[in-house]
Amino acid sequence: MAFSRQTQISKQRCFMVTGGAGFIGANFVHYWCAKYPNDRVLVLDALTYAGNRQTLASLDGHPNFRFVQGDICDRPLIDALLQDEAVDTIVHFAAESHVDRSILGPAAFVQTNVVGTFTLLEAFRQHWLTHDRPTDFRFHHVSTDEVYGSLAPDDPAFAETTPYAPNSPYSASKAGSDHLVRAYHHTYGMPTTITNCSNNYGPYHFPEKLIPLMCINILMGKPLPVYGDGQNVRDWLYVKDHCSAIDAVLTKGKVGETYNVGGNNEVKNLDLVHLLCELMDEMAPDLPVRPAQELITFVKDRPGHDRRYAINSTKLQTELGWSPSVTVQEGLRQTVAWFLANESWWKPLLSEEYQAYYRKVYA
Ligand code: NAD
Ligand code: TYD
Repeated sequence: MAFSRQTQISKQRCFMVTGGAGFIGANFVHYWCAKYPNDRVLVLDALTYAGNRQTLASLDGHPNFRFVQGDICDRPLIDALLQDEAVDTIVHFAAESHVDRSILGPAAFVQTNVVGTFTLLEAFRQHWLTHDRPTDFRFHHVSTDEVYGSLAPDDPAFAETTPYAPNSPYSASKAGSDHLVRAYHHTYGMPTTITNCSNNYGPYHFPEKLIPLMCINILMGKPLPVYGDGQNVRDWLYVKDHCSAIDAVLTKGKVGETYNVGGNNEVKNLDLVHLLCELMDEMAPDLPVRPAQELITFVKDRPGHDRRYAINSTKLQTELGWSPSVTVQEGLRQTVAWFLANESWWKPLLSEEYQAYYRKVYA
């Protein structure tokens, strides 16, 4: 029978959320603290270039929230935190997450995504054994659809049974971490779950990724760099729907299982950029270049660029009753509104270090 933690809602749970100062992790922390204010949430984040302490500032003072700056490869630190906070659940977001950076420098991806996940698994296994293998402990691993590789136009969407075929150093390192998590359940019986999600978008998205990059460049009147012919397809999901999917898996999911998460929103990159241009033309009062689509520029393709991703999330929908709450049109409108209203969040991120990265990728 599927193990359900819904019955144990009265007990205060203690979550360690790794990577909680990044894009999806921070959205998840805000989601969880608002929905389950009695749960303790300990964020462990190294604050790499992608981590932003400001994103969590509004939670400082919340009695059940704690932030610790630290590395998931630091075993003594993790051991101490698991014990001191009596952690029963790890929700593991921390990762190097950007494909273009993985092409420029793959070592950090192997270190954090593979070695870091292994370190967390080992620490959690020890902690779980020390407590006599409680069945209500959980290690939830947040992963990506990119582990499945690339689809041809008429291929069926990725299911949980699709063989892994990662193509970038990023997706290969995430695939490695998924295999470790799977093995820890199979070999040691550790209570693990995995979600493989499609491309997310929404508030607090770091400027290097497609959607925030286009929004910010439109506001600054800079070229909109579309890789290759712009016909690559991604399956977009609003980040808050990813958070509710993880909630469903944590509260109703079966240990040892993997669940695919996707919004059934396949869009070609060029169409998405046109949509963003239209929304910006409509919603932004002062644009340096209008219509914004005049800024679209085709640039050299990303090496090994996956052509198409599409996710089949039938298992999550039918077994756990999850469904996405917004269409991509609604979600993008909300996202554009958020970037327009939150220049004070994204502007400081366009640092000299970021400009140097930008020149390297787009030179
Ligand atoms: P992100 O790059 O925005 O955030 C990553 C966070 O992890 C940052 O706060 C960073 O400081 C932290 N971090 C990095 N290395 C660390 C280390 N060694 N120790 C501790 N913290 C460290 O990433 P994101 O887009 O929020 O993605 C979160 C997770 O979701 C990742 O595991 C990613 O693979 C997965 N995912 C992302 C997407 C997407 O569209 N962004 C889709 C599916 C799955
Ligand atoms: P990205 O947001 O980097 O996510 P991922 O590579 O994980 O799917 O990119 C989404 C798509 O947009 C991908 O097909 C690459 C493309 N892209 C561009 O065309 N131009 C850009 O400047 C960026 C960052 C991405």
